[in-house]
Amino acid sequence: MNPHHMGEIENPSGVGVVGNPVCGDLMQIQIKVEDGILTDVKFKTFGCGAAIATSSMVTDLAIGKTIEEALKITRNDVAENLEGLPPVKMHCSNLAADALHAAIEDYLKKEGRGEWLNGTKKATKKKTGAKKGARRRRAA
Ligand code: FES
Repeated sequence: MNPHHMGEIENPSGVGVVGNPVCGDLMQIQIKVEDGILTDVKFKTFGCGAAIATSSMVTDLAIGKTIEEALKITRNDVAENLEGLPPVKMHCSNLAADALHAAIEDYLKKEGRGEWLNGTKKATKKKTGAKKGARRRRAA
C-alpha cells in the first residue's frame, strides 16, 4: 500500500473529523481552498488499512475540484472504486467521504457561506421526510 496525501496542511481552510460508529475509529481530513478550488487535501486516521486506502482515494478524487464538485463525491463513488473490498469493510470506506464533507462544511461556515450549505441540507431533509411519510402511510 502506498497511500497519497497523508498528513496535515499548514493553516488549513477547513477541517473535518468523523468517528466510525461501527468500530470507533477516527478520520480527519483537512482542505486548502483557493479561488473556490480544493488545491490540497490531506488525511490522518486511526482507522484500518481499508480506511487508509479509501482516504487516499478520496484525496485523489477531491484535489483540483471546486467546492460544489467535491461536495458531490459520495460514499458510493468511493465504494465503486473499491474493487475487492469485503462487505464487512464497507463501513470503513464511508469515513473518508464523510470527513471530506465535514471539512467543506467547516470551510463554508468560516467563510460565512453556511446559509448556502443549509439550503443544500434542507433540500436533502425534505426528500427524506417525504420517504418516511410514504413508509408510514404504507404501514397504516
Ligand atoms: S475497522 Fe475501523 S475504520 Fe476500518
